[in-house]
Amino acid sequence: MKTLKYLFDRNREWANTIKEEDPAFFSELSKQQSPEYLWIGCSDSRVPANQIVNLPPGEVFVHRNIANVVVHTDLNCLSVIQFAVDVLKVKHIIICGHYGCGGIRAAMEDQEHGLIDNWLRHIKDVIRFNAGRFEGLDHEDKLDLLCELNVREQVTNVCNTTIVQNAWKQGRELSVHGWIYSIQNGILKDLDACITCNDEIPVR
Ligand code: CO
Repeated sequence: MKTLKYLFDRNREWANTIKEEDPAFFSELSKQQSPEYLWIGCSDSRVPANQIVNLPPGEVFVHRNIANVVVHTDLNCLSVIQFAVDVLKVKHIIICGHYGCGGIRAAMEDQEHGLIDNWLRHIKDVIRFNAGRFEGLDHEDKLDLLCELNVREQVTNVCNTTIVQNAWKQGRELSVHGWIYSIQNGILKDLDACITCNDEIPVR
């Protein structure tokens, strides 16, 4: 008897539904993956990459962590970016934040949460970099703004990785996008933060 049997039951139903529509789906997909998109998003269970953009398996390479942060020394995230850019040759890297992000909220508050406070420091840095922009806003508006500013900061961080820098030096077509998702209505918003070359990286 498997544990969590109902999840295995759901898996069978899901796989069967896909095979009914396209009997060769899994056998074709098993031969290779060639996604065009790398998605870097939040681990939040309400923000599932493929479902939000309604794409099937094979279309999106995904990295998720708390509050969609790209840290220059995070080997895990950097390895995902390198594999996506150098091996899979994705053309688009999407940083997707979301309103109502628990990581962003925690970074805005002064409570202690243990180890994760070290991770949230990176978001507290985003507050510090943008200190003047929060004046006069109520708490919820500050949180929404920080969710957006965090995406913009991570877009810049992705652009400054050696991986993206080298891709651009080689003249390769690679865009880095900043998006935000509303868990209240399921709608994505483009923050118009798209960067396609060094000259477009914002100077703070
Ligand atoms: Co979140």
